[in-house]
Amino acid sequence: MDTKTNFSRTTIALHWLVAATIIGLIALGIYMVETESWHLYDIHKSIGLLAFVAILARLAWRWRNGLPQPVRPVSRLEHVTAAAAHVVLLILTVVLPLSGMLYSGASGHGFGIFGWEIFPSHHSGDQAVPLSPQWSDIGQSMHGFLGYLLLTLIVLHAAAALKHHVIDKDATLKRMLGRTSD
Ligand code: HEM
Ligand code: HEM
Repeated sequence: MDTKTNFSRTTIALHWLVAATIIGLIALGIYMVETESWHLYDIHKSIGLLAFVAILARLAWRWRNGLPQPVRPVSRLEHVTAAAAHVVLLILTVVLPLSGMLYSGASGHGFGIFGWEIFPSHHSGDQAVPLSPQWSDIGQSMHGFLGYLLLTLIVLHAAAALKHHVIDKDATLKRMLGRTSD
């Protein structure tokens, strides 16, 4: 379990696994949309669905451990801001893949994990036929908007971690790297 001075290996492993996968999925998502690289869509969906499993495990783990306690005494405002930022990050990591599934499912494209079909596609000839154009549009808009919102928050979050390390010179980043003693 997590303490004020140390994070458990599970916390650290889940944080960096999910962080790296999400950063990769955002880059892949933006790239494939901008370059219309249709062959990358199935890879994005497959990794996104696998990431979703790790995200749910992480959420359950965070629920059991509570949010991180500050490594040193901080103002109430700073504590509440950090907790709120972590909660928003956790919520976005759940809602983002769900909106991707909503879009892919409702648009008739379907989704699965590397050939293992989870939600079937709906086609007429070569064309995907939407099951629901409305839900498809909502899912697509949400996925795009929330993807860019999450990217912005991740940049701020990483900047905050660096500020702790370089300016405050406290153990916030070291604790997440597993470099704290005792
Ligand atoms: C280079 C990228 C990143 C760095 C340097 C970084 C650093 C950190 C650090 C130092 C903490 C501990 C904060 C504390 O003790 O109060 C933390 C916690 C957290 N980070 Fe990151 N992080 C990064 C990427 C991400 C990404 C991509 C996400 C998810 C979208 C994320 C979500 C969280 C959450 C939810 C917490 C709360 C603790 C937990 O649930 O594990 N981080 N991060
Ligand atoms: C945490 C996991 C995920 C992240 C971080 C993520 C991120 C992104 C991003 C940033 C984009 C580009 C959006 C744009 O430029 O408009 C994108 C596109 C897309 N994603 Fe994801 N995604 C995730 C999971 C999923 C899942 C699980 C699915 C479906 C099963 C999915 C399906 C799609 C599709 C179909 C597009 C193309 C959307 C379009 O053409 O407008 N994504 N994703």
